[in-house]
Amino acid sequence: MTSELITDIAELTTNDDEHRRLRDAAMVIDEGRIAWIGPSRSAPDADISTSVHQSAVLPGWVDSHTHLVFAGDRSDEFEARMAGLPYTAGGIRTTVQATRAASDSALLANLARLRGEAEAGGTTFLETKTGYGLDVETERRSAELAAQVADVVTFLGAHVVPDAMAARDYLDLVTGPMLAAVRPWVSFIDVFCERGAFDGDQSREVLEAGIAAGLGVRVHGNQLGESGGVALAVEVGAMSVDHCNHLSDSDVAALADSTTVATVLPACDLSTRQPLAPARRLLDAGATIAIATNCNPGSSFTTSMQYCVATAVLQMNLTVEEAVFAATRGAARSLGRDTGPEAVGGLRVGGRADFQVLAAPSAAHIAYRPGVPLTRAVWRQGERVVARHATPVQEQDSL
Ligand code: NIG
Repeated sequence: MTSELITDIAELTTNDDEHRRLRDAAMVIDEGRIAWIGPSRSAPDADISTSVHQSAVLPGWVDSHTHLVFAGDRSDEFEARMAGLPYTAGGIRTTVQATRAASDSALLANLARLRGEAEAGGTTFLETKTGYGLDVETERRSAELAAQVADVVTFLGAHVVPDAMAARDYLDLVTGPMLAAVRPWVSFIDVFCERGAFDGDQSREVLEAGIAAGLGVRVHGNQLGESGGVALAVEVGAMSVDHCNHLSDSDVAALADSTTVATVLPACDLSTRQPLAPARRLLDAGATIAIATNCNPGSSFTTSMQYCVATAVLQMNLTVEEAVFAATRGAARSLGRDTGPEAVGGLRVGGRADFQVLAAPSAAHIAYRPGVPLTRAVWRQGERVVARHATPVQEQDSL
């Protein structure tokens, strides 16, 4: 592999513990990793040199919550919601029907299309979940297909109880044969702990089965009400509890006192007209937060981390730096990937060269120019995977 100098970086977001942002910086990448970071003027030689002409460079987004294994469209449900109907968990069953009927190749094509869309928007590391199969064979093939496209796969057999099944029978299936069938492809277990899905005791049973099978824990909690999901997540040592729209003071205190990351999903909050998750309150209390898209056909059909970060700044009262950190290193932490040789979500010497170049001089433009696709180039493990010419911001740029 040839080494590459990326130079003339106006602002480099590293997420390093000491220097989160460097000005007028350069970076050398080699063998998929970062070999050097420092001021542009003292950059060493490399086999090739790429000027980014005073653009901002930041780590690739880490999208730590998506549901990409699905078929079908629920824009009718979305339109009805925008006309006043509430969001309920019931729509999940519509996607289950379509997913069960879809071929592997159709599911894989949809997965690859969405991953490509995410990557073009700067996402370099992505988690996805099963959860639209809800029978052993469709959950198994969902996990197997997801593992071909995503970096991390989560088992969400406990999404809702499928039609025509008793909850007790379904829990036995999820914690027994279904868990065994998906196990080779998944590293986390998840449960939708909510009215209309699984109550606290049922959720605990699912999570304990996953823990016994060696899986890490994630929880969908407190999305539609104070479901007890947050307290349960903290109690069982979950890596992440996601949604967090309805939090009591004790939920916030418990998160602040724990290693469980609170993952907020701003696009979902807007698309379901739920109150925005209290990200500011969580940060002020000392909790770690992550920002993710929750891309799925029901409650949040977007792959755009840029949109989520902009919304977190503009509507959840986060600073740009806080929101970018939450969508990169915070999300990596929720996946157990923010330290060690395979860490993602930050740029440091020896670490993975996963980064994006913006058509803008600073990360502030993500929220300053909301809705404008600013990612113009993306490197993943040292290889340029996206090079877009369409943005006429700096025409001299060779990217
Ligand atoms: O995270 N909340 C549960 N699961 C998804 C919604 C899935 C759907 O409505 O299809 C979510 O929002």
